[in-house]
Amino acid sequence: MIKVDISNVWGEVSLPDLLAMEKEVFEAHKTLTEGTGAGNDFLGWLNLPVTEPTEEIKRIQLAAEKIRSDSDVFVVIGIGGSYLGPRAAIELLQGPNHNIGKGKGNPQIYFAGNGLSTRHWNELQRLLEGKDFSIAIISKSGTTTEPAIATRALRWMLERKYGTDGAKSRIYAITDPCKGALRQMATEEGWETFVIPPNVGGRFSVLTPVGLLPLAVAGVDIMEVMKGASEAKTAYDLRSFENPVWQYAAVRNLLYRHGKMMEIFESFEPGFKMFGGWWQQLFGESEGKDGKGIFPVTAELTADLHSLGQMIQQGQRNIFETMVRFNAPEQKLVIGSDYKNLDGLNYLAGKTLDFVDEKAYLGTLAAHVDGGVPVITMDAGDLNDRKVGELFFFLELACGISAYILGVNPFNQPGVEFYKRNMFELLGKPGYEKK
Ligand code: PA5
Repeated sequence: MIKVDISNVWGEVSLPDLLAMEKEVFEAHKTLTEGTGAGNDFLGWLNLPVTEPTEEIKRIQLAAEKIRSDSDVFVVIGIGGSYLGPRAAIELLQGPNHNIGKGKGNPQIYFAGNGLSTRHWNELQRLLEGKDFSIAIISKSGTTTEPAIATRALRWMLERKYGTDGAKSRIYAITDPCKGALRQMATEEGWETFVIPPNVGGRFSVLTPVGLLPLAVAGVDIMEVMKGASEAKTAYDLRSFENPVWQYAAVRNLLYRHGKMMEIFESFEPGFKMFGGWWQQLFGESEGKDGKGIFPVTAELTADLHSLGQMIQQGQRNIFETMVRFNAPEQKLVIGSDYKNLDGLNYLAGKTLDFVDEKAYLGTLAAHVDGGVPVITMDAGDLNDRKVGELFFFLELACGISAYILGVNPFNQPGVEFYKRNMFELLGKPGYEKK
């Protein structure tokens, strides 16, 4: 189980305040699991974790085997909930530099269609020169502009390289089972497809083929991920404050009610950065509506202690932090002794890097708490495929409960449409003409 430590939040908020929320948290959890709240047609994610491979998972594993054997590079096209989850998991498990030294047998994985940068596109084109590659197009609606543009360009690159039939066997579409332009294209062109269930929203879709196909191609054991999520589903169904999901969901709402408007979600692992990005979308899109919501920010420690550290320590006191900790890996770096000791580091000789990291964590925690910043700690234990599944489900559940405590519909995102409408009008998209 992930352990949540809330002993560093007391000050402005108190334990009796928290305990007084018990009924509220209970109701929010019940509303979510019984499907009686706003957005209840998007609760399919609650039932995604499985312990045995489904037919779809077996197809994903087969497709991943083929891609691993015939591709140097696998390009995953998608944006928002159709991209952040797989990238988060791959970088957390394999590090931000996971592509180094990879090729056929264990392909490199790049992400496209998550923006409109020509520089990013030019770089991808250079990366793909002379390489065998396959693509996954992920879009639930099948109409999102950024991935649609990337799809057109990459699909034509594939067709030029392998011919129409050759390209066909290298394109995988992950989309709604019936609706949308991508479903129609995939059917007409004969691409292999995987389904995003209609009752699973983008940011809750990592345990569907959206996350599972890229993860399987990256060599992650997707059944381990599913088992971790499945264990989490059982373990975190507990209806009391012993449940760490309750502790996290309730404390963040309590802090918000006491003026803490911003949450910094952070870890001492560089590979955690994109996981923070996934969390940021999950909570940001789920809670930021009706003039409410905790603004989700991410940070990488210790690096950001040298940039955001000053602001956290002495800036506006409207923030709190959630620090995620993992057990140190088995392979250690021991700090050596230098007879000249010009850098003055001999006092650390013989100590391991993770020993220093632990002290940095404890020192940071104490400093920030002293500075008036409440800190929630999540001790996630060993980092492995199963843990990633557990973390995904833990945070999705916490998000659903937290949003219902906040009093918003966690499963819509009406605000995202506003920029699109303006952009379409400016682009002259039919149907979006200036009135
Ligand atoms: O969480 C969400 O619903 C969004 O972030 C979507 O995933 C994102 O807008 C991409 O949408 P689509 O999968 O329809 O292309």
